[in-house]
Amino acid sequence: MAAEKKKVLLGVTGGIAAYKACEIVRGLQKAEVDVRVVMTENATKFVGPLTFEALTGHAVGVDEFGYPGDAIPHIHLAQDCDLFLIAPCTMNCAAKLACGLADDLLTSAALATTAPLLVAPAANTQMYTSPASLNNMATLSLRGVELVEADEGYLACGVEGRGRMAEPQRIVERALALLGVRGDMSGVSLMITAGPTIEPIDPVRYITNFSSGKTGYSLARAAARRGADVTIVSGPVAVDPPEGVTVVSVRTAREMRDAAAEVFPACDLAIFAAAVADLRPEDESDRKLKKGLDDAALSTIRLAENPDILSELGHAKREHQVVVGFAAETHDVVDNARKKLIAKNADMIIANEVGPEKAFGTEGNEIYMITAAGEEHLPYMLKSELADIVLDRVLDLR
Ligand code: PMT
Repeated sequence: MAAEKKKVLLGVTGGIAAYKACEIVRGLQKAEVDVRVVMTENATKFVGPLTFEALTGHAVGVDEFGYPGDAIPHIHLAQDCDLFLIAPCTMNCAAKLACGLADDLLTSAALATTAPLLVAPAANTQMYTSPASLNNMATLSLRGVELVEADEGYLACGVEGRGRMAEPQRIVERALALLGVRGDMSGVSLMITAGPTIEPIDPVRYITNFSSGKTGYSLARAAARRGADVTIVSGPVAVDPPEGVTVVSVRTAREMRDAAAEVFPACDLAIFAAAVADLRPEDESDRKLKKGLDDAALSTIRLAENPDILSELGHAKREHQVVVGFAAETHDVVDNARKKLIAKNADMIIANEVGPEKAFGTEGNEIYMITAAGEEHLPYMLKSELADIVLDRVLDLR
């Protein structure tokens, strides 16, 4: 018999980040969580209740005295959830929660619930950092309310500072952790290589490529959310690591090979998303190269081949291990990727064509998943969306 779904009551209050609550709903639903939504009157000025009704398949509560078929919805909704999440939570709502004010459906339900309360505050920087707001959030925290601290960044009011609601994925990860949701990858140990490698020429210069790490980190984030035990072996990137993931930071291909070779034997799955430099300067100067080199020195950086990490570990894989590589191609994308599938002894190669809007550094990508059995094309979509589909297919290979 299928386990009963966990239930989250999502409270949405009136801030510009209200539209991001839709993404939170989707993220929770992907983890098989049943979501109901209550909104403040002000929140409906930013997103219509109909949007949440369509997403959740449940009536959305706004008016305490107008909830369909229920005379006391604040009690029933509050009692029928495993977690009450408020995102975004305005400073006005945080103040009401701190004082125990209950003057609408959302705050009445918050006062009535016995479920854990998770709050993702969002506001203009001055409002967020005002002594009153900080005091209210400290009160909530002391009372056991879980807070997902707002991010720093560009705010809708035109200023830079703290107050931007945390990214939906971060909020979803915290919610799932509090719910103790064990995803379909629980018990799976996954290694992912991500980002570029850098190959030094001298102490201040290096050869590298345009990989941002977004692909590897999106896969890691999705796998961690689904319960996998994830280690990223990562070249230098500016992407935040997902919560609960181990990151082994490396710089060069040889460092990445050593780190990956150490993690690999204990893995069930390994995905090689890194753009590893195939070549490195043979000799790394221990001094900064100066102007005025002679012609021979100016025209030559001797290169040496780096180890092929995927190929080495692909050929070393054991029966139960699934190995997935990537192929970044400028032409004959599928044919070249298929050759890599065989040469590197991988179970799947994910091919992507290098282009201005695809592959390196972009938010989205278009890919071909190639196995011995055939190939599947996925049209352009966000790397975060691709990640879940790739993981579904990789799990099918076990
Ligand atoms: O990080 P992003 O900005 O999101 O960009 C994503 C990406 C374009 C880097 C990613 O989608 C991708 O294609 N990664 C592989 C890039 C690459 O180096 O492709 P390749 O065809 O040269 O290598 C084939 C496979 O062998 C890859 O799995 C690579 O990780 C692996 N390899 C390659 C060389 C080497 N010395 N060691 C390796 O392990």
